[in-house]
Amino acid sequence: MNALRIRGGRRLNGEWSIHSAKNAVLPVLAASILTNDRVYLNDCPDLSDIRYMGEILQTLGCDVQTQNGMMTVDPQGLCRWEMPDELSKKIRSSIFMLGPIIARFRRATVTFPGGCEIGLRPIDLHLSGLRQLGVSILEEGGMIHCDGSRMRAGTVHFDYPSVGATENVMMAAVGLRGTTLVHNAAREPEIVDLQNFLCAMGARVSGAGTHTIAIEGVKRLHGVAYTPMPDRIVAGTLLAAAAATGGNVRLRNVPVQDLYAVFAKLREMGCSIDEDADAVTLHAPERLWAFHQLQTQPHPGFPTDMQVQMLALAVRAQGTSVVVENVFENRFTHAGDLNRMGADVMVNGRTAIVKGVDRLYGARVAARDLRGGAALAIAGLQAEGETLVEHVELIDRGYDKLEQMLGALGADICRICTDT
Ligand code: UD1
Repeated sequence: MNALRIRGGRRLNGEWSIHSAKNAVLPVLAASILTNDRVYLNDCPDLSDIRYMGEILQTLGCDVQTQNGMMTVDPQGLCRWEMPDELSKKIRSSIFMLGPIIARFRRATVTFPGGCEIGLRPIDLHLSGLRQLGVSILEEGGMIHCDGSRMRAGTVHFDYPSVGATENVMMAAVGLRGTTLVHNAAREPEIVDLQNFLCAMGARVSGAGTHTIAIEGVKRLHGVAYTPMPDRIVAGTLLAAAAATGGNVRLRNVPVQDLYAVFAKLREMGCSIDEDADAVTLHAPERLWAFHQLQTQPHPGFPTDMQVQMLALAVRAQGTSVVVENVFENRFTHAGDLNRMGADVMVNGRTAIVKGVDRLYGARVAARDLRGGAALAIAGLQAEGETLVEHVELIDRGYDKLEQMLGALGADICRICTDT
């Protein structure tokens, strides 16, 4: 088993260029089967979720090659509309394939992603969006059978602006004759990126980034070479890591405008942040101040994917911070490990109260999910002594070698094998 070993106390200093966003690459990979031509994706990070998505495409009959960060998808051999069971259970994003498969075959069979029952990891909004386009859906024995033979363009309204469900409907509708309107659509930047990708393939999609997206059906999409947007969460994580250490860093290839909610919190904590068109410089004070309250919201509110990293900053800030998680119910699972490192975090339902302490101490801790793992690394950077973050494979789902990024900025961090 691999772990990150961190010796705390080093100030982060230097420059780093941010890789493309996992959450942009995944839907774009799914959308690549909407054409018969080759699709070239530049600057793809080496992430396990992206590798799994590539394997899913291969199982469906596509040829997928990766070389020097460029992924090439050749969908000519696409021949299956049934999603591979084992792989689908490995990544929740496998659900993104539903819309494109129905668009191509007018039918699809998928298992519930992650193998969970619908009550626990719901996909009801995805299914509701497709039903509103005329897809008949039968849920049976953990499988979802979709019949799109009577599919047509129309109006879709979401009860909640789900990112994945919005993307699924966009991909399902690009080839339907007429105009589809998606109301109460999610406004995340990765949805704008998917729109840009689809339009580069010849689709007619507009309105992404607002509450209403319009999709005018076209007959055929063509191949394209595309560079997915940079990862705002990786950028935010590195800024938080620098802030945790009183550091001074400059990040390049940053989607600056998509990070305003994060900048606002970091400024509230005492950091100074200078923005250029696609770069950002952060200077952190010796000790951060607590923030008053952080509430996660759909974009442009504070991103849930940055919540736990900010919580890891608050643990050593001066004063008491309040964090409210409104998007996912289970995102405080790392509070126990932070407390074992000397933090004072009290969790009650969707709220965490964080009393800043003077010192954190290194400990052996374990990532339980992707962002929580990154947060433990941030805690390790500000702790006295050595921290071991186990289950680094969870961090690898979304950070292309976190230890390399932090190491280049001056952290004392390495990946070690803990097998005895
Ligand atoms: C995407 C991101 C994820 C991010 C999240 C919110 C990708 C690959 N992942 O996930 O990193 O944290 O947006 O910004 O892009 N929900 C339902 N029914 C559904 C779908 C979702 O109840 O059918 C609920 C979820 O349980 C959650 C909330 O809606 O509580 C938000 O989920 P959603 O916006 O769909 O997030 P994802 O697309 O899964």
